[in-house]
Amino acid sequence: MRTPSRKFEAHPTLRVSGTVVVPGDKSISHRALMLSGIAEGTSEVTGFLASEDCLATLTAMRALGVRIEQPSPTHVVIHGVGLRGLRDARRTLDMGNAGTAMRLFTGLLSAQAFDSQLIGDASLMKRPMERVAKPLREMGADVRTHGGRPPVDIGGGRKLHGIEYRMPVASAQVKSAVLLAALFADGSTTVIAPGLSRDHSERMLASCGVRLDIDGLRATLHPPRALSNQQLEVPGDFSSAAFFIVAGLLGAAGEGLLIQNVGMNPTRTGLLDILRSMGGSIDIQNPRESGAEPVADLKVRASALRGIQVPVELVPLAIDELPVLFIAAACAAGETVVTGAEELRVKESDRIASMSAGLEALGVVHSVLPGGMRIEGRGAGPAFSGGEVDSFGDHRIAMSFAVASLRAAQPISIRDVANVSTSFPGFVALARSAGLDISESDG
Ligand code: S3P
Repeated sequence: MRTPSRKFEAHPTLRVSGTVVVPGDKSISHRALMLSGIAEGTSEVTGFLASEDCLATLTAMRALGVRIEQPSPTHVVIHGVGLRGLRDARRTLDMGNAGTAMRLFTGLLSAQAFDSQLIGDASLMKRPMERVAKPLREMGADVRTHGGRPPVDIGGGRKLHGIEYRMPVASAQVKSAVLLAALFADGSTTVIAPGLSRDHSERMLASCGVRLDIDGLRATLHPPRALSNQQLEVPGDFSSAAFFIVAGLLGAAGEGLLIQNVGMNPTRTGLLDILRSMGGSIDIQNPRESGAEPVADLKVRASALRGIQVPVELVPLAIDELPVLFIAAACAAGETVVTGAEELRVKESDRIASMSAGLEALGVVHSVLPGGMRIEGRGAGPAFSGGEVDSFGDHRIAMSFAVASLRAAQPISIRDVANVSTSFPGFVALARSAGLDISESDG
């Protein structure tokens, strides 16, 4: 069933202030459900992200025989069935819009005794899956895609063996799919990455007692006899905080905006380095550890940004934040150039094309590069004309253009925004509480 169409209407304002707490991390919430589900005993997760993507994972884990209670939307109690305890779901598992769920489940299910089939929504059905199928087949798994795309059919009853796999792209989803399958293999598995990518899987596996040797870009997993249960407090999602970081830089008034309890895993915070080198005032306050992850509060003040050439090694560490970086770049003085971001082409939408269409509609001078964009920033004052843009059903495109409204000459209307709830339930209410002038309606 197609979600009814929704739209945002966002008006210019320069009074962003106060304190916000963003919802829990999406990547960590998916992993918490999967690893706790195959652990021994009961795990308790607070700060869980109750978004459509993570609820797709929760529903699938239940279908696979894991009892999960949800005393409140952000509190889940998972009764682990042990490493060999998952059961045949006896139905196709629907991952909705969630690429992470589909790729990680492909790894986890390729080692089970039963067959599985994974499908998703119209966007996910177009996304590349051979990147996970290929290494899993090398391990002995029976994984079939259709022209490289879902449905993903996984044959059960295969004995997996450990491999050494050199990933062609720096993808945390590919790395995690291989590591999940490796839990069940008959020897150690090594994944060698071409660059850094988020390491939440490695951190959480280690917390569950799995032996992992990490040596730079090389991770070796030794198959465990069992995973231990966990008590986990999921930090706020840096990728959700990113919209408020940029909102603060573009439109803060007075003392600025405080964003509390933000996950600060260094494999996720590339946007901070980029924005700081553009002249952004972002203070890291109260740094602390929460479970296996670093966390802090961020104080953001209105800043006059300067365009830069974004260092290519920061791109994988800011991959989900590049749409909102393009908004910041349009407001910076001078040119900003992003390259090496070809992966943006295969996200929930082709994010280079989606952002280019919106920037074009709002009068931003820019050119599209094969793996990025060159943006001519306007500096102080309004940088966007106002008008109508399409999110192409992509949550991060929708939220990026909502932030652009702060520096628009006229209101911005954003179409097809229902998918914001795949990652950020409550976005509009939180944005309004921080001073953005945004409303949502049918349309
Ligand atoms: C994710 C990894 C990234 C990211 C995605 C979430 C994860 O994708 O873009 O939103 O949770 O592992 P890739 O692994 O494709 O880089």
